[in-house]
Amino acid sequence: MAKLRTKYICSECGYETIKWLGKCPTCDNWNTFTEELVEDKKREVKKYITNTETFKLSYNSNEKEVRLKTNIEEFDRVLGGGLISGSVILLGGDPGIGKSTLVLQAASKINAPVLYVTGEESLNQISGRAKRLKVNPDSISVLPETNLDYILSAIEKEDPKFVIIDSIQTIYKPDLQNAAGTITQIRESTSELMKLAKTKGCSIIVVGHVTKDGMIAGPKVLEHIVDTVLQFEGEKNHSYRILRSQKNRFGSTNEIGIFDMNESGLEEVKNPSEIFLSSRETEVTGSVITCSIEGSRPILLEVQALVTPSAYGNPQRVTTGFDIRRLSILLAVLEKRAGFRLSNQNVFLNIAGGIKIDEPAIDLAVCAAVASNFKDKFADSKAVVLGEVGLGGEVRSISNIEKRIQEAEKLGFEKIIVPTSSLKSIKSKNKIKIIGSSDISSALNHILKN
Ligand SMILES: Nc1ncnc2c1ncn2[C@@H]1O[C@H](COP(=O)(O)OP(=O)(O)O)[C@@H](O)[C@H]1O
Ligand SMILES: [Mg+2]
Ligand SMILES: [Zn+2]
Repeated sequence: MAKLRTKYICSECGYETIKWLGKCPTCDNWNTFTEELVEDKKREVKKYITNTETFKLSYNSNEKEVRLKTNIEEFDRVLGGGLISGSVILLGGDPGIGKSTLVLQAASKINAPVLYVTGEESLNQISGRAKRLKVNPDSISVLPETNLDYILSAIEKEDPKFVIIDSIQTIYKPDLQNAAGTITQIRESTSELMKLAKTKGCSIIVVGHVTKDGMIAGPKVLEHIVDTVLQFEGEKNHSYRILRSQKNRFGSTNEIGIFDMNESGLEEVKNPSEIFLSSRETEVTGSVITCSIEGSRPILLEVQALVTPSAYGNPQRVTTGFDIRRLSILLAVLEKRAGFRLSNQNVFLNIAGGIKIDEPAIDLAVCAAVASNFKDKFADSKAVVLGEVGLGGEVRSISNIEKRIQEAEKLGFEKIIVPTSSLKSIKSKNKIKIIGSSDISSALNHILKN
């Protein structure tokens, strides 16, 4: 009989130790170790197998890549064109963000038999949601079950093309001694599902809740096992939801899908720029429009800044949707290279609409928004501002300049500030006035009104 032992497993990276540790030696996180029971596997004596077959590499492949469309365009794009048969996808997100809604809507649109395994909600609750979302229930079978053995045999028997496991934290493999939701259970259950997906050729979406600090429980552990990791995110007070891919064996990880969550479910947002700019009415200082490339799409966004004198020696810097360290760097550049005294000012920065941007191309817009509010001068509301800002105060070139210009023109902007060094890569004829700038001070002269 296998012996059971207590081990401590890091919930962030899966590192195992016999003794409890405060800090994980591999991922440097604190207080991440949880006690789990692990079976001691007997060491097997290696025997060499002699009849292994190898194959000559060639261009010929019999297997055509089969992608099952969810028929939700935003979802399919993030997946890289649809679900690959035999693949396992992890869908993570905060509780209540809309994961169950998304997978149910996808389930109803797929042209194939679907098995929806629910360990969290009853059949009644799922039916209620299906009714509210007005989805077609015909091709969906529901299995309210948490025992993995039953789930696997249901997949064997029903032979669905698409399986939803909602959520992995509720599923348990009965031959393990650990409770559902522990790292061992999550890892082992997912591996079993992975094996079955490969042999049956079905796609499995595994829903996973995110822990308080924004990580999927056992994230690194699962990331290695599954083919694709998707993250569903959004702000509590906004109805926008963004689907991002963090890992994808079968597609790019840059694409995002944008949805609007309302009573009848998730609606695809096909023209994100219009939505993100829609709430702009009266002109205020500290507001600047920029354009970010998300995946393959340009999205116009409003950067908002508020600068207030700090009463104490320690000024605050608060951001939503933008890296706070990046803001600190940009403030230092503004101070040193453009003469703005910001070290005794609180600076609050917000990317309107609840979207998160980590693209350097919006640096100049961030600087302009801060400068506009600090100086109490309006930024030109008909202008779009683009450029990365270097430590020397120089405006550096950015990628995809033409796409951004076209988007700005399409939405009726009259003027676009771009890095001088990017001017040469503009080949198309444009109606919009294009102004090159090479340093932050001259750029601000073009953007801020007197
Ligand atoms: N009756 C309802 N009317 C409108 N929106 C609802 C209703 N019930 C739930 N929702 C929305 O659905 C969200 C929950 O979505 P759900 O797919 O269950 O999230 P998750 O599976 O990620 O926990 C809620 O936060 C709420 O915004
Ligand atoms: Mg749910
Ligand atoms: Zn660790």
